[in-house]
Amino acid sequence: MVFHTLKWIGDAGGFLELVDQRLLPGKFVRLECRDTGQLYEAIRTLAVRGAPAIGVSAAYGVVLGMQKVESNESIERGLEVLAESCEFLSSARPTAVNLFWALERVRTKAEEFAAGRRETDIAALRDFVLKEAHSICAEDVEMCRRIGRNGEKFIKAGAGILTHCNAGALATAGQGTALSPMFEAHAKGREFQVYADETRPLLQGARLTAWELGRAGIKVAVICDDMAGWLMKQGKIDAVITGADRIAANGDTANKIGTYSLSILAARHSIPFYIAAPSSTFDLSIKSGGEIPIEERAAEEVRRFGGSQTAPDGVDVCNPAFDVTEARDITAIITERGVIEKPTTQSVRRHLG
Ligand code: MRU
Repeated sequence: MVFHTLKWIGDAGGFLELVDQRLLPGKFVRLECRDTGQLYEAIRTLAVRGAPAIGVSAAYGVVLGMQKVESNESIERGLEVLAESCEFLSSARPTAVNLFWALERVRTKAEEFAAGRRETDIAALRDFVLKEAHSICAEDVEMCRRIGRNGEKFIKAGAGILTHCNAGALATAGQGTALSPMFEAHAKGREFQVYADETRPLLQGARLTAWELGRAGIKVAVICDDMAGWLMKQGKIDAVITGADRIAANGDTANKIGTYSLSILAARHSIPFYIAAPSSTFDLSIKSGGEIPIEERAAEEVRRFGGSQTAPDGVDVCNPAFDVTEARDITAIITERGVIEKPTTQSVRRHLG
């Protein structure tokens, strides 16, 4: 990986630079977010996307929010603005728990920091928040690397691997989740064939996964979402591996719409189905997948793409952005800590300690 999906530029007065994923693969353009409003829009419109990348970006977004506070204002006012920024950013998208996880972590740590130091001023609080955002970013990079090391054994030489959406470097601060084991296996000299579902309606698989794998020198073929079953039937798929947006306490996993169908197809063809995700993607506050909020996105995403009409104007549309794969159809969840085989409430709890 020789690009940064997201990067904070400068000190606490700086800004967040993102690769604008709406324009890939045609254009590689960096987008500067200099206030929380710009970042909110970037998250909402998928300029930055993928659960871990959304979480890390939001943590930096709190620093942007803190820039509104004057240095001579009270620390209470600083914490108030911080909480407002967190609330605002958390409303950008509902499904990926990493967003809420990162914001909650920054807010809690900042409050502890301010409570423990009577002499704290706004500048110190701002610096602290930036430091915490940098830690979240660095931890994400490390988690991705470990997921790769823990998962590469599932990518056998000569295998056909199916993935959905994009869970690569573009979706994280590091080298990705589902794609990370592929990068590791490739670095070890193993050759394999990846099939990337194009992932309608926004084509993250065709536009982003194919771009990332291609530039890494990994063999990739883009397929339309409705082709996966037939490829499985023909024996071309040896494993499916995807990322996750939220994993419930029992292992039920929300990921990009279409993942659920793949899990059923994989079960029907006795193909192992893996989820790769960092521990920041688990939400132990909910028991099972039925409680995961599923984002419903604008109808225009289905009626049009890239400025072209793909369905009649005004036709009714369903556009859920995610679905939930049942734990019983997941062979294993690969995290930075290791592998949860056949996830259950007990094994997930044991794994996360
Ligand atoms: O709507 P998106 O593009 O943000 O959806 C992304 C996914 O579903 C990814 O698979 C998931 O966030 C994991 S990214 C490491």
